[in-house]
Amino acid sequence: MKSEFQHLIDLSDYPVSWWQNVVELGEEIKNNPEKFAHECDGKIMATLFYEPSTRTQMSFQTAMIRLGGQIIGFDNPANSSVAKGETIKDTTKIVSSYADILVIRHPIAGAAKAASLTADCSVINAGDGGHLHPTQTLTDLLTLKIEKKTLSGLTIGMCGDLLNGRTVHSLCKALSMFDNNFIFISTKELGMPAYIKDIIKANGSRFEEVNTLEEAMGRLDVLYMTRIQQERFASEEEYLAQKNTYVLDRKKMKLAKKDMIVMHPLPRVDEIAVDVDDDSRAMYFTQAKYGVFVRMALIMTMLKEKKSSVTLKGKVYGKVKCDNPKCITNHEAHLPKSFITCGDETLLECEYCDERKLI
Ligand code: CP
Repeated sequence: MKSEFQHLIDLSDYPVSWWQNVVELGEEIKNNPEKFAHECDGKIMATLFYEPSTRTQMSFQTAMIRLGGQIIGFDNPANSSVAKGETIKDTTKIVSSYADILVIRHPIAGAAKAASLTADCSVINAGDGGHLHPTQTLTDLLTLKIEKKTLSGLTIGMCGDLLNGRTVHSLCKALSMFDNNFIFISTKELGMPAYIKDIIKANGSRFEEVNTLEEAMGRLDVLYMTRIQQERFASEEEYLAQKNTYVLDRKKMKLAKKDMIVMHPLPRVDEIAVDVDDDSRAMYFTQAKYGVFVRMALIMTMLKEKKSSVTLKGKVYGKVKCDNPKCITNHEAHLPKSFITCGDETLLECEYCDERKLI
């Protein structure tokens, strides 16, 4: 399978200089948005949101409108022919022939990659299940660049559902390229996946794991809180066992450095007490606002990218299937079940969702 367009599925598909250019352009747009008001005149962006969203969907739409372009799409697949059983392949094939750029969010890991293989325009991954969320990462990088003036040498605490949190997966992959220290604050059940920890080590950054916020607070330059995501649990019981484990409140903020910032991709449920909102170190609402500028930069960049042939990098190993039931290859039968080897040929990584398996 081969696509003739450039896509953004995972930031690691691009060199660091590419993301830095997007972030720098985002900062330039923030400082002078009027200058970019006609950059996308006559262009159409489609937003296909198979999963609920406030920030990502509306910031993408705002971004395109502020660039002079127009938008089409759905935010509830039940109101589209998805409700009649249409596959992601067919929906994205059709919509990509109506638009110049397509933004997709889907609850299944690897869905954006699958869409990109047959789409007739550039595809941007706006979150694929518990896997990745690269445009949130661009938002986070812009926030760090503006608010901490650096992307390197930071001690970053990540707290909450690190197992299913696509935002922290994408952010760790990116920030580990800049010589940073991570402190993962989670329960044993919701710890950071092994493949992300391996990437951090391979990129030359460091991590440690703790169980409480108090153990980390005093050392952090950045605290990245995340929600325990009810929708990712198999049962209500499992969710309730994890809910409310970590709550950031004013008392805990007293343990933090004076210049530590608190980030959160949002939405929050109750993991940050409302009384923290008035603390000058609470950066999560500003962070969401910066999402518009960086998405404006991304849309402009993607529309200017030269076309190129993008194809799967791995190979199919006979009848070997991905073991992740939430992987797109177990939902759309036409997809080649492509794997990349990790080390020797006995450990394979699914090219769509990164799930590993021994053969
Ligand atoms: N941060 C984020 O992805 O928020 P939404 O789910 O509201 O888009």
